[in-house]
Amino acid sequence: MPSTFPVFDPASPQAESIRDLFVQVLFISAAIFAIVAGLICIALVKFRSQEAVPAQDFGSHRREIAWIAGPVIIVIWIAAISIKLVLTVNALPPQYAKGEAASDAEVDIFATGHQWWWEIEYADSGIVSANEVHIPVGKKLRVKLQSDDVIHSFWVPQLSRKMDAIPGHENYIWLEADTAGVYQGRCAEYCGTQHAWMNFQVIAHNPEDFAAWQKQEEKVAQTPTTGNAAKGAELFMKLTCSQCHAISGTDAKEDFAPNLTHLAGRREIGAGAITYSPENLRTWLANPQAIKPGCKMPNFKLSDEHLDQLVAYLETLR
Ligand code: CUA
Repeated sequence: MPSTFPVFDPASPQAESIRDLFVQVLFISAAIFAIVAGLICIALVKFRSQEAVPAQDFGSHRREIAWIAGPVIIVIWIAAISIKLVLTVNALPPQYAKGEAASDAEVDIFATGHQWWWEIEYADSGIVSANEVHIPVGKKLRVKLQSDDVIHSFWVPQLSRKMDAIPGHENYIWLEADTAGVYQGRCAEYCGTQHAWMNFQVIAHNPEDFAAWQKQEEKVAQTPTTGNAAKGAELFMKLTCSQCHAISGTDAKEDFAPNLTHLAGRREIGAGAITYSPENLRTWLANPQAIKPGCKMPNFKLSDEHLDQLVAYLETLR
């Protein structure tokens, strides 16, 4: 169950220090607002009549020192907790030698923003997926952010800082989760029509579950040879599907659209637009534009027969 106020429900040291900074700054701002608003209210009531002129006071050293020192202390305090935050979010995991800069760390995951989905590639295993980031709990992973088109922003409020994915520019973040669970991620930079449906999920597994997930994902897709699924596999190649998507073990190798190798194991379709189920997949294929208007997948106006065959094939991709 995704958190309603994810920023207040951190699940990593980074997100915790971001929450702490936010709460402290919020309290400081609220206190200043209350004092200023309170003084205005007092003045409004007390000096309502034109005769009620307040006592005029010039050259009070004590007050001048107070209103300079007060803000200076507040600014120093906010700077200190901000620096602590930056050190926390950029901290290298212990396996790196002392003195190394965070940029020396090896990349574990490449996250590439596309209009309007995320391509996720794992450096070690070579697994390529979309809109889902699987990580083992308690491990700090280096994520390299890049973009294929416009500026996007990768944000998992419960786990990490927000970071832009900029074409032609390299950005990095650390991603880690203390407890197993599903964490909602969003594109946090307006990037076009379907910016709102450019969601993703980080799924943090216990180490055994992560190994099992990885083993499953490393399997090459087996092309079915009988029934509707076989006809669907043929259609996939014959229609334009294979000109945009990739499926391992087949001739479909394009990366313009999400890699579909383990599509049926995913939780959502269209970067969060609908949950994954064979019925929803059929609805999506029947007309993606009805669900995610403006998305790059056109309405192919498939017949019922073709829809059944394609769904039967895609359902084998687990
Ligand atoms: Cu990608 Cu907003």
